[in-house]
Amino acid sequence: MIRKAIIPAAGYGIRNLPATKVIPKELFPIGNKPAIDYVVAEAVQAGVTDILIVLSRNKTEVMNYFDRSPELESYLIERQKESLLPLIAPTTLRIQYVRQQDPLGLGHAIQLGESFAAGEPFAIMLPDQISLSRTSMLSPLIKCFEQYRTNVIGLQSMKQELLINYGVVSASRIKARTYDIDSIVEKPSVPPSQLAVMGRYIVKPNIFDKLRQTKPGFNGEIQLTDALNNACQSSRMIGYAYNERWYDTSIEEQYIKLQHRALQLKTRNNK
Ligand code: G1P
Repeated sequence: MIRKAIIPAAGYGIRNLPATKVIPKELFPIGNKPAIDYVVAEAVQAGVTDILIVLSRNKTEVMNYFDRSPELESYLIERQKESLLPLIAPTTLRIQYVRQQDPLGLGHAIQLGESFAAGEPFAIMLPDQISLSRTSMLSPLIKCFEQYRTNVIGLQSMKQELLINYGVVSASRIKARTYDIDSIVEKPSVPPSQLAVMGRYIVKPNIFDKLRQTKPGFNGEIQLTDALNNACQSSRMIGYAYNERWYDTSIEEQYIKLQHRALQLKTRNNK
């Protein structure tokens, strides 16, 4: 069973400037909810009970979003708008926060979760990758983890020209949607396949040893991809290829499509 998830949300959001100068990318609205709310809901749907969100200095609003807002609660009560209270109710989930003091990369952000993981396998969920699928995108990875008892990475087949934005694996197919991963490389100029890493992972706690051994890589940052590549040299790593549609909120066109899709689903559900 996977009970814990780490959501790294400390990046500067360079691809979404200038909005990210003041609005954390994780709080970009999708309908009337911020992006990170969808990711947390996805974790809960898959049975996760404890979440660690890694933040940076200018992201305190993420904590505020999941906390109580007493002034707003009183205001709604005074104006007889109690029916809106559930919308601003604080989360009942166990969410913890840690700050990444320097932008040293995704791998470094995950390292900050070592005491949170406390020796258990856990999920990593990158909040700029969102799917509006009815079922949690973590669930099939957890199922693979239970079957193979080893690291599992969510993958998606991508158009060649998009691969430069992602980690890309070299892998051989075991059965429908399931792969044995031989290696994984971050943002390759010559991709080894069309299977890109989709921001959902289940990892064993020895990933922290691998992260400690990892030197700065792409962009001078400690890359999770490099630690995973190291891990798959010594133990099996499974890839699960999604069929569902993903949206990357860092890519403007996909973010706008995500908005449209969310609105369509809301209208359909309200009918
Ligand atoms: C990160 C990972 C990359 C993965 C991607 C998915 O990159 O390093 O391997 O494919 O997320 O969104 P980033 O988007 O932080 O550049």
